Amino acid sequence: MRYGYFDDNAREYVIQRPDTPLPWINYLGEEDYFAMLSNTGGGYSFYRDARLRRLIRYRYNNVPADSGGRALYLRLSDGDFWSPAWQPVRKSLSAYECRVGLGYTRITSTYRGIQCEATYFVPLDQTLEVWRVKLTNQTDPSTNLSVFSLIEFCLWDAWDDQTNFQRNFNTGEVEVDEAAGVIYHKTEYRERRDHFAYFACSEPLAGFDTQREKFLGAYRGWHEPIVVEQGASANSIAHGWQPIGSHHVKVTLQPGELRTILFVLGYHENPRDQKFDPPESQTINKRTVKPIISRYLNLANVATAFAELKKHWDSLLSILQVYTPDEHTNRMVNIWNAYQCLITFNLSRSASFYESGIGRGMGFRDSNQDLLGFVHMVPARARQRILDLAATQLPTGGAYHQYQPLTKHGNNDVGGNFNDDPAWLILGVSAYLKETGDWSILDELVPYDNKVELATPLYEHLQRSFQYTIDRLGLHGLPLIGRADWNDCLNLNCFSEEPGESFQTTTNREGTVAESVFIAGLFVLASHELADLADHLQHADEAQRYRAAADRMEETVKAHGWDGDWFLRAYDALGHKVGSHEREEGRIFIESNGMCVLAGIGLQDGRAEQALAAVNEHLATPHGIVLQQPAYSRYYVHLGEISSYPPGYKENAGIFCHTNPWIMIAETLLGHGDQAFGYYSRINPSQREAISEVHRCEPYVYAQMIAGKDAATHGEAKNSWLTGTAAWNFAAITQHILGIQPTLTGLKIAPVIPTDWPGFSAKRVYRGVTYHIAVKRVGKGNAVTLKVDGQPVAGNVAPLPSQGTTDVKIDVVLA
Ligand code: GLC
Ligand code: GLC
Repeated sequence: MRYGYFDDNAREYVIQRPDTPLPWINYLGEEDYFAMLSNTGGGYSFYRDARLRRLIRYRYNNVPADSGGRALYLRLSDGDFWSPAWQPVRKSLSAYECRVGLGYTRITSTYRGIQCEATYFVPLDQTLEVWRVKLTNQTDPSTNLSVFSLIEFCLWDAWDDQTNFQRNFNTGEVEVDEAAGVIYHKTEYRERRDHFAYFACSEPLAGFDTQREKFLGAYRGWHEPIVVEQGASANSIAHGWQPIGSHHVKVTLQPGELRTILFVLGYHENPRDQKFDPPESQTINKRTVKPIISRYLNLANVATAFAELKKHWDSLLSILQVYTPDEHTNRMVNIWNAYQCLITFNLSRSASFYESGIGRGMGFRDSNQDLLGFVHMVPARARQRILDLAATQLPTGGAYHQYQPLTKHGNNDVGGNFNDDPAWLILGVSAYLKETGDWSILDELVPYDNKVELATPLYEHLQRSFQYTIDRLGLHGLPLIGRADWNDCLNLNCFSEEPGESFQTTTNREGTVAESVFIAGLFVLASHELADLADHLQHADEAQRYRAAADRMEETVKAHGWDGDWFLRAYDALGHKVGSHEREEGRIFIESNGMCVLAGIGLQDGRAEQALAAVNEHLATPHGIVLQQPAYSRYYVHLGEISSYPPGYKENAGIFCHTNPWIMIAETLLGHGDQAFGYYSRINPSQREAISEVHRCEPYVYAQMIAGKDAATHGEAKNSWLTGTAAWNFAAITQHILGIQPTLTGLKIAPVIPTDWPGFSAKRVYRGVTYHIAVKRVGKGNAVTLKVDGQPVAGNVAPLPSQGTTDVKIDVVLA
């Protein structure tokens, strides 16, 4: 069952009813100001850091779901009122449509002949969100309408805001410029904050409110504010308690008449020595913000800003467009997967409807992987991200597991010792170099632990990443796992018996025994990448050393990381095998099998074939590939959080989607296009749209997890949006299945597509040149014959064209 449809020409998903199984959201904003907006108008906004600079309060895990935060109310003169986005009033609308677009959402509804079309977006390079509300009277008589806006302000630090009421009920402060229609939220501006929020309206006000209780009335919910019920604002000024922003606008609409009202919610900073006006007062200096407010309270300017946003996305997406026989592939690659890659790049795992924005910063491994899906779109931002991440690396080569986006400093509470972290930096940098050829990045001086005095060239960071693993090998010569590897919940040194103790940051064993076969595979992969970089730098000895280390590790994996039919997952703290036929539960895991094959281990000797066959036999389901089998039926203190989850959920045998593309890529390395594409399709959100009542999350983006076969709700997705699934699936489909792969020396075209595809075409902008790619299948295999601008080229890499070339035509024959 569907709740809407894809409008591919408009690059929108159109939701046709408000009561989706879960809130289906969108993200607005790209650089400094971010907003989440649900299909019923809910959500919250923040400046850069969802914890430290939150503009709108949000109540997590609340009932009814997704209420509060932001709202619009409309009221007719007979007292009947409703929310045009359905929530929070939830009166039945005669028409409803929510268009989820790239960086904007438009919700259009009709109630008693009044049509309301509200478009929400964040203009490029601005720290504000615009709500453009178009009201049309579709009835005969002229109608008197009241419009009420609503924002509930967060007192900036979202954690403190949810917990420290004894203080916060006293700190709230606002200013209202009624004539200009602007409400200013200035809590703590009197002390150390140089920033404030504003909520502005383009129309003359009939009234306003800034005190929540005055707006709602005692003991009332968002669905029945007394002010809306009575049709008159209280003109309240908040002194402590809960500051809100609400405008009241009265409009009379003639039959057929359309009126547009603009609301603007924004964040603004003043220079510290110019905070107040007059300087000795406590009144906000509004001179710097007023021009911004008036610019975006102007319809023509808003229309221009919206057109610029559209253009911006056209240009980002035009970097790669594919035309394949499968509409789900085209739609995801050309629109939604690319879009999700930008969102995950921006927000890592910090703020979604499943991540509170107060728990996590930017993950070291996560952000490096997110780069893989993003780097072709805005390489300059990827470059900066790499430098930021590397600056949180420690002198040992290890890394803080997370950093806070506002300060860009490593998060001490979470710390380090996740032994896979350093290797991902090598993969991130290598992806950047393959895309851009910007070798200068390796010379950038980058601090360790943000200490400038420790800075070395970025290249040395990569060397230390490599060395970090070499320095931490266990009894079998495999890498020690530390707190965890990619699987945060396989906590082999934790041994926690204490309820509530953090599995990720508690370590009760010294960590000199438990080893990870996954990190071994990752190390082999990363060492080969590093060797290629060393080659380019003409450091032949080093390249040789990296390759030799990779070869040694490969031999070690074959000797001690092979279980007979598949790759082992790990050795635990007692030296026992994890992910082995010797175990009752957790006999086979996806991660080590994906990563080892991806690293090329066992491609020659049949092990890779065997491992992938085992994955298919034991782990594959119609909804995707589960993480391990059999699921852990009880808590195992020596395995940690993986066994906290009931069978079928999350890391305990859920379909942890992030890992599925590793298997897809592995399958392509063996030339199995049908199998790779089959796996791709199972978790493709657009493909799953038809079963939205089962999947339940948004059909336009990947979710972190789909419940596995042991779960009562097999096929149900959770944790949509912020997941490494976005980048890895993008890499799997574009670089390995369609096979359009940037390399250090040029664009490689090596498709491993389904046997029944006649071919496909694509347009790829790479290092400033537009490649027009046409792939034609003439046989059933994957052998590539390449012609570049009509000339046969040996191998499968189109060499970099000469300076000044703008377009290159590539013809590929697959046989
Ligand atoms: C989450 C984490 C990621 C980890 C994965 C598996 O997605 O953000 O770092 O690799 O879970 O545990
Ligand atoms: C929780 C999640 C897991 C995540 C980890 C790190 O354990 O279940 O998926 O990776 O937290 O924050």
